[in-house]
Order: sequence, then structure tokens, then C-alpha cells
Amino acid sequence: MTFPLTRPRRLRRSPALRALVRETTLDPKDFVYPLFFHAGITEKRPISTMPGVFQLPVGDAAEMARTLVQRKVGGCILFGLPEHKDDKGLAGLDPDGPVPRAVREMKSAAPELLVMTDVCVDEYTSHGHCGVLSPGRDGTLEVDNDQTIEILAKMAVVHAKAGADVVAPSDMMDGRVIRMRKELDAEGFADTSILSYAVKYASAFYGPFREAADCAPQFGDRAGYQMDPGNAREGLREAALDEAEGADMLMVKPALPYLDVLRDVRRATTLPLAAYNVSGEYSMLHAAADRGMVNLDRAVLEVLTSIKRAGADFILTYHALHATELLGA
Ligand code: PBG
Repeated sequence: MTFPLTRPRRLRRSPALRALVRETTLDPKDFVYPLFFHAGITEKRPISTMPGVFQLPVGDAAEMARTLVQRKVGGCILFGLPEHKDDKGLAGLDPDGPVPRAVREMKSAAPELLVMTDVCVDEYTSHGHCGVLSPGRDGTLEVDNDQTIEILAKMAVVHAKAGADVVAPSDMMDGRVIRMRKELDAEGFADTSILSYAVKYASAFYGPFREAADCAPQFGDRAGYQMDPGNAREGLREAALDEAEGADMLMVKPALPYLDVLRDVRRATTLPLAAYNVSGEYSMLHAAADRGMVNLDRAVLEVLTSIKRAGADFILTYHALHATELLGA
């Protein structure tokens, strides 16, 4: 006896059937939009390596907040460019720096908007590294873990005071989540959440961001603190540590070259999980589309679907507003 031929194509026959059985769908709520606020400008400034992305004056924050609420985007994450930088990144602790000011503007214009802040000193240091430098054993300068987490904990409090709902450390120092949690609790911000960039790789795909946030390292690279692209098990270890330290949500970054890691972390934790579809991933699609190699709209939705399918609950992406438009929302 022969079995009837199973025909998966039966369920692909119409848009209605395809919609009925689609396993992964996108919603504007899935997207968190990264924004760059520059203290020293009054007109928005294009970022040459990221078509459609701008450095914004703080004066544009309120209008942007209203747009994001109206478009029902999940939230935004703020990066700051200060007027002056120093070797310790102390401008990042200024309560009147671009990030705290933009948070206040956004929250007063649109209190319901979810506002996250990136907590890292690289946008504020003259040397562009994600921490304070001190001479290592052989005398060469390296990023000092324990001095750096003190500054990060204070920066988290400055952002929380301004009204950030979520603070997101992106530095990859050890022990920063617990240090930050303690400082936030001690200062009366027990309700401020921590989204940890827990599994962050030393990646070529951050290239355009370093122009956007003006934070390219002036010497060396970030391989001494960000993860080695060959390591997947270590990603699970990083995720477990940050969970144990009290992170409320975890992130894997970048997204596309690390979808396997995203899937692994998804299976290892019950915490909400984010993925950062980073600047190079964004610009790569635009560059290919500009040359007629891929259809931008389709590629954007396909990429974002793949990241969600791999296990992300939400996605930090520069495509947020474009994708929202494509979803017809
Ligand atoms: C560090 C930070 C970086 C990004 C987010 N936070 C840059 C880096 O680690 O070099 C990259 C984001 C992107 O490429 O879109 N504060």
C-alpha cells in the first residue's frame, strides 16, 4: 500500500493560507530604534555610512518621541555625543549631557514611550575605548575593568534620574551588571531595568556606528574586552553570568552573523532576549540595494524575520521606522 503523497505546497496556495500557518510574524512593537543625540548641533546631520540615519540635536527629541509613539514602535535606545571628551569619559556623567537631556525631552513629550539608554564610556572618551585606561603588567595601556564599572554604575544612575526606563550596558566589562544594580537600588531606582549587552562580539559590523557615535578607538581594537567571533559556548557563559548578576533582559550582538548564538541563548534562559541588528548589517543592505543587487524592502523584512525566528523577543534596528512602514502599521 502506498501512502498518500504529503504535499507541503498545499499550505502555500494562497496569501490567506500562508498567513494562517506563518510561524513568525513581525510587529512594530518588536523594534527598538537607536538614536544619536549630539550636544553640539542645532540641525540634524546625516551619517555618510548609514543612509537615512542622522545625528540629532536634542531639540529634535520631543518630535521624535511623538513619532515613535504614533508609529507604535517598541521603544528607542539613546546614544550621546558630548561637546568635549576626556580620557575617562566623564562627560557621560553630566546630568545635562545629550542623553539625559534627550531622555527628559522625550519623556515629557511622550511619557508612554519606552526609553532605553546605552551605558558605555566610548562615546565620551578621547581615545574611543569602552573604559578607563591604565598600564597593564607589561606597561601597555589597557582598559581597567574595575575602575570602569564604577563610572558605568554612576552613568546608569544619571540616566535613570533623567527618566530612562531601561539602562543597557554595552561595554563588556566583567561584573558591571551587579555593580550597576547595586548603585541603582541604593539611589532609589530599584524599578529601572537592566538590558545587558551580555553576548557582544568584537565585530567588523560596528564600522558605520563608529562614525555615527564618533567613537572609533584611537589605537588598538576592542578584542581585549569584546568576545571572539569563534566562541559560542562562551556566549552561554556570559549570558548566565549576567542573569546571575541580576540582568532583567539579555542581548546578543551583532545579530545576523550570530543567529546560532542567539538560538543557543534563547534555549538557555527564560529572560527576555534582544538582538542588535547593528550598523554594518544595516548599511550592507542599503549598499546592496543601491547597486540593484537586492530589493531593500523585502530584504529588510526577511532579515528582521530571521532574527525573530532565531529567538529574539525584540530587535534593536535602524530599520525600525522603515520596517514599520512596510508592515503597513
Ligand atoms: C559601544 C557600542 C557599540 C555599538 C553599540 N554600543 C560600538 C562598539 O562596541 O564598537 C555598535 C552598534 C552598531 O554598530 O550599530 N558603546
